[in-house]
Amino acid sequence: MPMGSRSARARHVEVDGLHPDLAVIDQVAASLRAGSLVAFPTETVYGLGAAIDRPDALARIFEVKGRPATDPLIVHVADLESLVGVVAEIPAGVVDLADAFWPGPLTVVLPRGRLVGDAVTASGPTVGVRVPAHPVAERLLRAVGVGIAAPSANRFGHVSPTTAAHVLDDLGSRLGSADVVLDGGATPLGIESTVVDLSGARPAVLRHGGVPIEDLVAVLGEVDGTERRVAPEGTATAAPGGLLRHYAPDTPLVLVEGDLGLASRLLDALHERRVRPRVLDLPAAAERAATVLYSAMREIDAADVDLILAVALEPKGLGRGVNDRLFRAAHGRVVIDDSDVTVERLVAQVSGRDARARPR
Ligand code: TXA
Ligand code: MG
Repeated sequence: MPMGSRSARARHVEVDGLHPDLAVIDQVAASLRAGSLVAFPTETVYGLGAAIDRPDALARIFEVKGRPATDPLIVHVADLESLVGVVAEIPAGVVDLADAFWPGPLTVVLPRGRLVGDAVTASGPTVGVRVPAHPVAERLLRAVGVGIAAPSANRFGHVSPTTAAHVLDDLGSRLGSADVVLDGGATPLGIESTVVDLSGARPAVLRHGGVPIEDLVAVLGEVDGTERRVAPEGTATAAPGGLLRHYAPDTPLVLVEGDLGLASRLLDALHERRVRPRVLDLPAAAERAATVLYSAMREIDAADVDLILAVALEPKGLGRGVNDRLFRAAHGRVVIDDSDVTVERLVAQVSGRDARARPR
C-alpha cells in the first residue's frame, strides 16, 4: 500500500502484527532514541510515541496533534519492573492490578518518578502508565529500553485511529520525514484504555475503556467515578478524555437511547423533513462493536450524510466504554423518543451546523 495520504511525509513501515521482524523493530527503536516520533499499534488504538528522555520529541507530540499543553501523556512500559523510576513507588494495589490486567488496556495514574519530566505530565505531579498487550508495542518497548510516552495518534478531539491509514489521514502531513508510522495492522480492541487514578485517597476512574468497570471493581473494591461523567468544555479537568467534546466525527452525531425501532422511526421522520440521516451500524456484541467503532465513525463521516444516529449498547462490560465514546461524540446530545419536539430539535442541529460549517 502506498502512503495512506497524498501529503504524508512520515516513513510508512509495515510489520507483521503478531510476529514483527525484530531487525525492523530495532531500526524503528533507533529512530525513537534519536528523537523521532513513531506511531505504533497497541491493542487499543494507535499511539503517537516519543521516548520519555527526549523532551524535543515530546514537545512535538503536542504540536503535531494540536493538543493542549495541559493534557498529560500516558507512558508505556514493557512490564511492571520497568516502572521503576517512571513512578515514585509501586504500591501493592498496582501489583494486584498488574497481575489482573497487564499487559492490557488499563492505565494507572500514580505519583511520577525521576525519569518522567514536565513535558510528559503537563507539569503535574502524577503520571499515567500502562503495559500494552500488543506484540509490536511490546517488542518496540523492549528494543527502546526506555518508556514511550504516547497519546492516541489522531488530531486532538478527533476520532482515534485503529489503523495506520487513519494515522496517516489525520497526521500524515504534519509528521516529518524522520518520523515513522509503524503499521502492524488494525488494533484488535478498538477503544482506548480505562484510566484509573490511584494517586488519591480512593481509586477513581477517569476514563471508561478497555477494562470493564465491573472487572476493575472486582480487584480494587470501591472505586469512585464509575458513572457517566463529563467536564464542561473549557474547564481544567483531571482527564481531558473526560471532556464532553472528544472522539468526535465532523458530522453531527446524536446518541439514541432506545431500541432500533426508535432509530428507524427517527430516520423516517428526519427524511420527511429533508434531512439525510444515517444510523451508525454497530454489531450488538460489545467486543465487536468496540473493534469497529472508530472505523465505522470515520466511514460514515466521509459519506454524504447530515446527521449520524448512534444507538447505545447495553450498558454493561465493554458496552459502557463504547457508550461513553458515543456520548462524547454526540457532545452529550441524547435522544430518547421520536416526538415532534425531539425531531425538530435534531433538524435545528443540522441547520445550525450548516451555518457554522460554511466558513471553514
Ligand atoms: O489506550 C490508550 O490509552 C491509548 C494508547 C495509545 O495507549 N492512549 C491514549 O492516550 O488514549 P490519550 O492521550 O489519547 O488519552 C489519555 C488520557 C487523556 O484523557 C489524559 O488526560 C489522561 O489519559 N491522562 C494521562 N495522564 C494523566 C494523569 N497523569 N492524570 C490524569 N489523567 C491523565
Ligand atoms: Mg486520545
